[in-house]
Amino acid sequence: MFLKVDVRRHLCVCVCVCVCVCVCERERVRERERKDMTGTTTVESPRWWSRDTIAVVTGGNKGIGLEIVRQLAKQGVTTILTARDESRGQQALSALKADGLDVIFHQLDVTDSKSIRELATWVKARFGGLDILVNNAGIGWSSLPDKVLAAKEVLDTNYYGVKNLTHTLLPLFRPSAAGSRVVNVSSMAGQLAVVGNNKWKQQLNDEDNLNEEVIESIIQAYLKDRAEGLNTVLMMPSQELLEAYGNYTVSKVACNAHTRVVARDLVNRKEGEKIFVNCMCPGVTNTAMSQNKGHSVGGGADTAVWLVLLPASECVTGKFFLKRTDRGFVYIEEAFAIDAQSMIPEK
Ligand SMILES: *[C@@H]1O[C@H](CO)[C@@H](O)[C@H](O)[C@H]1NC(C)=O
Ligand SMILES: *[C@@H]1O[C@H](CO)[C@@H](O)[C@H](O)[C@H]1NC(C)=O
Ligand SMILES: *[C@@H]1O[C@H](CO)[C@@H](O)[C@H](O)[C@H]1NC(C)=O
Repeated sequence: MFLKVDVRRHLCVCVCVCVCVCVCERERVRERERKDMTGTTTVESPRWWSRDTIAVVTGGNKGIGLEIVRQLAKQGVTTILTARDESRGQQALSALKADGLDVIFHQLDVTDSKSIRELATWVKARFGGLDILVNNAGIGWSSLPDKVLAAKEVLDTNYYGVKNLTHTLLPLFRPSAAGSRVVNVSSMAGQLAVVGNNKWKQQLNDEDNLNEEVIESIIQAYLKDRAEGLNTVLMMPSQELLEAYGNYTVSKVACNAHTRVVARDLVNRKEGEKIFVNCMCPGVTNTAMSQNKGHSVGGGADTAVWLVLLPASECVTGKFFLKRTDRGFVYIEEAFAIDAQSMIPEK
């Protein structure tokens, strides 16, 4: 009898504690969601990384790149902030240091092969290699008045430069149980729904046969279009949007496609030498590129930071993520809900 009461009481205490833990946990999840809304990346991964984990983030002096650097440094990853402009890079570094974060700077212009080689040599000599690469550097618009040169500049920076950098750094990825990670900051603007030519759309979505020649022949066709005032490549909602976003859109179509090519080529590496390669869209983020519209930089950095810190068991490769979700490459509904018009910079 006593025993029974005792058991009942224990049971009761137990249930109470459980309910309490549950409520607390739910509150924690809510709190986490609230934080996500305001922009702090929450990382729940078991910590596979340490101070010996080396990350390179390109375009790290401002906006989303700077925020990715900040978050990785906060997590205790040794983070190399790269920027085209030495003094802007140093300025960003001072700001991070003032917040108590220990970050390393190295100059890098992805459109300059010499600068890429210098970075690679330095990374190799100083750290012996790297584990994480975030290709964030990119431009939305060119300031060159000539329309063809402007288009070329956007594609050189957002596609050819990033491709060159990645190819140069790939041999430096170190073997590790957790696998190395490459994340390309891309955009839902690069979804295949915007490719107007059906043959190309199909080629770009044929992952088994896709290669750099296909991607680059489409880029060249687009540049030829620009020179001749034609439009045979893209299908944009209006002429004005085509004029404003064509260059950027093609660069991101190419970036997404190239991510799939490299991921596919690396997929059979053996256990302990894996490299997971993905791309993501930060969403419309409050930076200069979107005329300061959209969510905080924390929200913009979130998916990239989450992707590079995932435990190996949860890593996938060759995918496109938006809001921590694999969204495929073809049709991304959110892209059509965005008021792209309001983000065109004034001339
Ligand atoms: C990429 O590398 C190739 C080969 O080294 C070079 O010819 C090309 O100019 C580079 N592109 C950019 C944008 O740096
Ligand atoms: C995207 O990721 C792949 C794989 O790491 C890389 O080779 C490629 O150059 C990246 N960027 C672009 C713009 O394609
Ligand atoms: C390409 O970039 C230039 C400079 O930003 C711009 O004037 C031109 O309209 C752009 N064209 C397209 C189709 O994006």
